[in-house]
Amino acid sequence: MSDSFDLVVIGAGPGGYVCAIRAAQLGMKVACVEKRATLGGTCLNVGCIPSKALLHASELYAEANGHLAEMGIVARDVSVDVAKMMAFKDKGVKGNTDGVAFLFKKNKVEPVHGTARIAAPGKVEVSLAAGGTRVLEARNIVVATGSDVMPLPGVEIDETRIVSSTGALELKEVPGHLVVVGAGIIGLELGSVWGRLGSKVTVVEFLDRITPGIDAEVAKTFQRILKKQGFDFRLGTKVTGIDKTRKHLKVTVEPAQGGDAEVIEADIALVCIGRRPYTQGLGLADLGVALDDRGRIRTDRGFKTSVDGIYAIGDAIAGPMLAHKAEDEGVAIAELLAGRAGHVNYGVIPGVIYTAPEVAYVGRSEEELKDAGIAYRVGKFPFTANGRAKVNLQTDGFVKILADATTDRILGVHIIGTDAGNMIAEAAVAMEFGASAEDVARTCHAHPTLTEAVKEAALAVDGRALHM
Ligand code: FAD
Ligand code: NAI
Repeated sequence: MSDSFDLVVIGAGPGGYVCAIRAAQLGMKVACVEKRATLGGTCLNVGCIPSKALLHASELYAEANGHLAEMGIVARDVSVDVAKMMAFKDKGVKGNTDGVAFLFKKNKVEPVHGTARIAAPGKVEVSLAAGGTRVLEARNIVVATGSDVMPLPGVEIDETRIVSSTGALELKEVPGHLVVVGAGIIGLELGSVWGRLGSKVTVVEFLDRITPGIDAEVAKTFQRILKKQGFDFRLGTKVTGIDKTRKHLKVTVEPAQGGDAEVIEADIALVCIGRRPYTQGLGLADLGVALDDRGRIRTDRGFKTSVDGIYAIGDAIAGPMLAHKAEDEGVAIAELLAGRAGHVNYGVIPGVIYTAPEVAYVGRSEEELKDAGIAYRVGKFPFTANGRAKVNLQTDGFVKILADATTDRILGVHIIGTDAGNMIAEAAVAMEFGASAEDVARTCHAHPTLTEAVKEAALAVDGRALHM
């Protein structure tokens, strides 16, 4: 087995494994080092894939106890077998991680199981999972080591009662009371899972709004809908400590600006206040690889770090911590290293929150446009006026298109509604091609589909929606 490669990728998450595959497609000899037993990184093992499996299963359960009766479907004695649901999720994860192993084989990428350290530019030392050390030499090294849970000071995550997302994907039974710390994407997705299965869910959020960063009007509607589903929000509130008694957790909270403390009794506490880049043990400081003030590896537009021959992508660098962003960066760096034109358009990276309804967005929010002093027009269309949504009893939410007031170019699209995650792809394609709202308004959309609401929102930018 040769130890000399064109490229060594450290980390086999969506950034690293996609980079390795693309580089191999372009003719490079590639090794990908991964310390986890299976490939696929956070996303496939403990992130996107298992969370979406549980979201899907729990949504069907909620549906069985929800609208089915109204449609004339009698579902009696519908109950949940948590162990079986977890087995279903684990099977889905295995299918996906095995899929990456298959793709490595197909593309002749050599997986190396162990923990990597960059001993020097061009030299990666791997402490092998099977024992021993192996030194890999390569002209180029791509660091794709991802991110890890942001700890809450003073609170120790034990992954059984005080859990991160990883423990929340593995609970053995439905908690009576789940306290979620942080009203971000993880808290609302996993809060939805356990809430649907029967938990009382209390979300404690430091700020006075949920999902900071997404369009405020969408966030407000989102919060109202989640409240109707049973979420209890404690906004402007911080957790100052969590004590474990034999039976319960005692979560101490107080107003974010200070004030009287209060204790909330819970069975499980989920800490999800963000993630931080994971670069431990790589030896970056010794090499002189510069980090920014948030511990992210600093790179230029071509993903090059401050040291020649060392590049970085994905959650370990700046930008949204999303799998598709990491993947696109993986492709771009592989293409750049092969002398091609790799590029990521950071203005058009969609985001999706996979709750029910889903929330999806691409481009800028109204707040961002206001801050930037850009004049814009708003086109909004509610799903209550969409024929398909009405007949399917899925009328929560709306589509909002923000277009430049002068040029009509689409600057942002925000959707809250059933299947928003699939519908946002149309908006991303339109924006990638520099489309105007008029372009979308004049594009024929199939009837009856939820996507007609996108067309209607585009018409509404010019004040001529048809079904409102
Ligand atoms: P990672 O996926 O974190 O992969 C890095 C890999 O590097 C890991 O496997 C790690 O073991 C390995 N590694 C680290 N250091 C070393 C070393 N020294 N040697 C060898 N290997 C090393 N994003 C979405 O877009 N959609 C979603 O629906 C979504 N859902 C999520 C749900 C949850 C619960 C979580 C936690 C995250 C979710 N994300 C989602 C975010 C997504 O998982 C990350 O953005 C994505 O995984 C980042 O990819 P990456 O390749 O940069 O890093
Ligand atoms: P997040 O950044 O989405 O949300 C964290 C929330 O915690 C914020 O609302 C923040 O104000 C709040 N917070 C911070 N400190 C707090 C404190 N001390 N007390 C109370 N609240 C506090 O982070 P989250 O949910 O942990 O997810 C991490 C990242 O993982 C996401 O930002 C996203 O990039 C990725 N992810 C993506 C998903 C998707 O694409 N569907 C799903 C899950 C995760």
